[in-house]
Amino acid sequence: MQHTEGSEYDSYIYACSSSELDEDDLIECEIGIETIVVGRGEGKVYAAQGICTHAYSELVDGELDGTCLTCPLHFACFDIRDGSVLEGPAETPLRVYKAIEADGAVWINYEGGE
Ligand code: FES
Repeated sequence: MQHTEGSEYDSYIYACSSSELDEDDLIECEIGIETIVVGRGEGKVYAAQGICTHAYSELVDGELDGTCLTCPLHFACFDIRDGSVLEGPAETPLRVYKAIEADGAVWINYEGGE
């Protein structure tokens, strides 16, 4: 579903309802062929690639503590705000996407990956 109200958000794609995402919650969504993990940390929503850069692991099964996203397989930690690696064994940062809340939902700017 594409956000259609107002040109400012035209490139944003629906991820989930705001009410589905409590503090430190993670959800996964598929946009095109990519798996995206969406989380709420320190009151803000963030979106990043949903598969760890170290090996195949779905980050939705990990933990979000504030803005630190921990992989469930080998426990690498990423900063969900910018995708940077905070702790190995992963070495490659996650791709991140702009995420916003509007109209009671979380939206991802999939085209405008950061
Ligand atoms: S698969 Fe994520 S740290 Fe190894």
